Amino acid sequence: MVIEKFEDGPIWTIGYLVYDEESKETMVIDVPMWSSEKIYRRIRHLGLRTKYIVATHGHWDHIGEMEKLADLTGAEVCAHLGDEWLMRDPNGTPIPPPEQVEPVGVGNFLEERVKLQIGKTGFSVIHTPGHSVGSICLYADGENVIFTGDTLFAGSIGRTDLPTGSIEEISRSISEKIMSLPDDVRVFPGHGPESTLKKERAENQFVQMIFAEKESKSTTR
Ligand SMILES: [Fe+2]
Repeated sequence: MVIEKFEDGPIWTIGYLVYDEESKETMVIDVPMWSSEKIYRRIRHLGLRTKYIVATHGHWDHIGEMEKLADLTGAEVCAHLGDEWLMRDPNGTPIPPPEQVEPVGVGNFLEERVKLQIGKTGFSVIHTPGHSVGSICLYADGENVIFTGDTLFAGSIGRTDLPTGSIEEISRSISEKIMSLPDDVRVFPGHGPESTLKKERAENQFVQMIFAEKESKSTTR
């Protein structure tokens, strides 16, 4: 399985092209503003067949050119139902995009534990609310990789002050659903450099605060 990064748009959002060289199947995870033509050119160059386009969540910087790429490739757009309202109206948010974003039609609503298959690799959907109510991560246990969107970054976690955000929810999502995975899992976030869960456990102060809080709650109860 090959992972290629496309960092683009006004706030440096990362879209990932994930493909299997043997079957030529591919999935695109998030499509930042200004990125669809670059991604599509690469898909054509490699002769790939785009099976899925997945939104880790509905914020405009992650779906900026998703509809355009869906039109170009004919692929099915997948997202969690919780963020469908954002994808339907990406311009009506408290922090609006610098230019109009085309609404995105979701064809496949993803739920916890649904598997998306790319060649021999199955990606499990992990519902991780907190940054937004419909935030998801995609985890391939066979390949030891997780795509975390804006839930977990190298050295940080997603903001929780936007509509449907929740610090309690993101804490639970990270501690129970992400940090329960093995140490050697590679982390591919929606912004910034990649990491590993081992590194985030050891160095991410936000993650450490979540666990410290959890610990203090369980001892005071
Ligand atoms: Fe976001």
